[in-house]
Amino acid sequence: MTKIFADNILEGKVAFVTGGGTGITGGIARAFAEHGAKVAITSRKIENLKAMKQKIEDAGGECFAVAGDVRDFSDVQNAVARTVEHYGKIDIVVNGAAGNFLCAADELSPNGFGTVVDIDTKGTFNVCRATFDELKKSRGQILNISATLHYLATPMQIHVSAAKAGVDAITRNLSVEWGRHGIRVNGIAPGPIEDTEGMKRLLPEPLKEKITRKIPLGRFGRIADIENAALFLVSDAASYIDGVTLVVDGGNWLLGTSLS
Ligand code: COA
Repeated sequence: MTKIFADNILEGKVAFVTGGGTGITGGIARAFAEHGAKVAITSRKIENLKAMKQKIEDAGGECFAVAGDVRDFSDVQNAVARTVEHYGKIDIVVNGAAGNFLCAADELSPNGFGTVVDIDTKGTFNVCRATFDELKKSRGQILNISATLHYLATPMQIHVSAAKAGVDAITRNLSVEWGRHGIRVNGIAPGPIEDTEGMKRLLPEPLKEKITRKIPLGRFGRIADIENAALFLVSDAASYIDGVTLVVDGGNWLLGTSLS
């Protein structure tokens, strides 16, 4: 995809990206590095982190990888402390670590529900909480990756819908509580993005056409669409945007995200 933004819009910034090894947040980490930021990526799987670090460095960017589970507050504190030790500060936090699988509500175990809420919602809070002191110093910002599943209702996704509704609440609450420190808190709600592992895994090919009919713009999104929205929201072009979750879905949710 053609580069839209100037190469240096994030020059001098340090970004801490959870789930930054793969998928949408991996793309965001790479795009931030391509636009001048030094990035720290964290997730549970060190092999994913190593591959993304290599990719970013091969393209001339700077990347620091630290393994950790966002559900575990001491892991998060460790990842944050090591990033600050390495780069000296944190300006931008991207909460992208997420868990997902398809499961009907009457088959989902309480632990299955809780696991996704723990990763997405509590994980987002843990990271925001652990980076607050740094963000206060840098008058930085937070970008939470959400979804559109909970705007109406999406069968087989009660756990993710509940978890992402919580993430949206965190975005709004923290924008109100932390705005006075100059910290902006926004979110992105991606629609169906075709080039993610999750989509390949969750979406059987025959359903793709059915979903495409429910996307007013007539195509699935691509990770690059989310990268561009993220670059805009963390750039100075969005310096008066706060507490917003930007939907990037080609208009899909307006027609309903369920297939019925
Ligand atoms: N259907 C129903 N329940 C499921 C499930 C599925 N496909 N996958 C996990 N669960 C349930 C488990 O049964 C367990 O509940 P139980 O103890 O009552 O049986 C609970 O969720 C925890 O599962 P576990 O595998 O121990 O958790 P984990 O912490 O290792 O991993 C996920 C949780 C969500 C990350 C895991 O399902 C996963 O690896 N998903 C694929 C990767 C992913 O989601 N990437 C993000 C894409 S957006």
